[in-house]
Amino acid sequence: MAVSSITTHRNFINGEWVASASGKTFENRNPANTDDLIGVFQDSNTADVDRAIAAAEHAYEDWRLVPAPKRAEILFRAAAMLVERKEQFARDMTREMGKVLNETRGDVQEAIDMTYYIAGEGRRMFGQTVPSELRNKFAMSVRQPLGVCSIITPWNFPMAIPSWKMIPALVCGNTIVFKPSSNTPLSALNFVSVLTEAGIPKGVVNMVTGDAEVGTPMTTDERVKVVSFTGSTRVGRLVNQAAAPTFKKVHLEMGGKNVVMIMDDANLELAVDGCLWGGFGTSGQRCTAASRVVVHEKVYRKFVDAFVTRAKALVVGDGLDPKTEMGPSNSDTQLQTVMRYVKIGQDEGAKAATGGRRLEGGAYAKGHFHEPTVFVDVDAKMRIAREEIFGPVVSVIPCKSLEEAIAIGNGVEYGLSASIYTQDINRAFQAMRDVYTGIFYVNAPTIGAEVHLPFGGTKHTGNGHREAGIAALEVFSEWKSVYIDFSGKLQRAQIDVEQV
Ligand code: UN1
Repeated sequence: MAVSSITTHRNFINGEWVASASGKTFENRNPANTDDLIGVFQDSNTADVDRAIAAAEHAYEDWRLVPAPKRAEILFRAAAMLVERKEQFARDMTREMGKVLNETRGDVQEAIDMTYYIAGEGRRMFGQTVPSELRNKFAMSVRQPLGVCSIITPWNFPMAIPSWKMIPALVCGNTIVFKPSSNTPLSALNFVSVLTEAGIPKGVVNMVTGDAEVGTPMTTDERVKVVSFTGSTRVGRLVNQAAAPTFKKVHLEMGGKNVVMIMDDANLELAVDGCLWGGFGTSGQRCTAASRVVVHEKVYRKFVDAFVTRAKALVVGDGLDPKTEMGPSNSDTQLQTVMRYVKIGQDEGAKAATGGRRLEGGAYAKGHFHEPTVFVDVDAKMRIAREEIFGPVVSVIPCKSLEEAIAIGNGVEYGLSASIYTQDINRAFQAMRDVYTGIFYVNAPTIGAEVHLPFGGTKHTGNGHREAGIAALEVFSEWKSVYIDFSGKLQRAQIDVEQV
């Protein structure tokens, strides 16, 4: 493709598509074929963020007063437009993110589901109405928006994750400055275009592309009231520190090292299917990826043989090819991380029963491809069994009992998702209770959360908040408790209660 036919995309600030004040741009390339230049985007700076925050702050004055059901009408329109454009958006997403078309369709679908679901909150957004302890006094709580929200999102779910944050922020009456990952800016732009066409007023949603020069002021500026970030634990910690001096509400969704526990009574075929999908779906690039599989010693060999055979047979390639089962890593940086961890695993003495190498030459020559890799007989203390890799690498760990499996499951710094395969309801419930994660599955892998339940994790995965479900409203609104005294006299709470 001739360079001249490549579109230069702009930032979206105060209802207009504008170039960055920096005069600089960056390229967006296809991870399956880096010769494929998808587009050029603005490499923005602090001045752009400053304008975007000013626009969002100004737009907030009116947007907060638009009745929530009216705000929701715009969101319902946006959801319908996403449905119409799903196929094109999925194709754009596979081209820039790498995951297979069925998965990018799922990503757009997740944005559709979230938009329909949370738009419904425009007519609910329940508060509490409670009796007052005093006569002729009325007591209730209402949700109020906070103001300008900074939304910082990763590349692995380029439309779904922005929707998890932006749609609840909007329905609650907040305005937005949005920085998508520089690896997947086209899907972000597609999403923002739909919101704009659906009728979101100017200044309510602003998008600024770029890297740290954009992200840092979004976390420090006094005018920003909420920061919602999904990404690595390392960067999440920096976001939290940067936002602390101005007391912003910070929602963090970070790393995972999720575990599948397979008991000796499990349906092994089902467990193999689940581990394949959980471990190698999205090339392992989900925070919820099943990167650890703990298997009861009685069924260990049988499971490993079947799992390794299936992993070896996975068809790796360009996600746009219908035959492909697993796409590339999203970037060279990500691929290098995968390769570094494979070496760490080998140095630690772990055995790669299949995979272990980068895929090169032929159809792989221009992409960031890696073999699906299964380390077996892994010790739970090894780094490959404790640290997030975010790639197609699964560590299989033997165990002797449910209790040991749970201890291994809990033995990492993260706490996002976990699963158990068993036919025994007692074991399932015990594991559900004792595994300390934010998400738990029985007879299903660690991935596959639905939009209407809270999503998030414990320990170093999060900071106590959840997105999705009704929980998302807790991030993007705050409570105002309202007391209305219609007695016409001074009534002192806690003091005049004897006389009522
Ligand atoms: C992520 O892993 O970053 O539950 C998000 C799932 C998806 C979302 C994953 N619905 O796997």
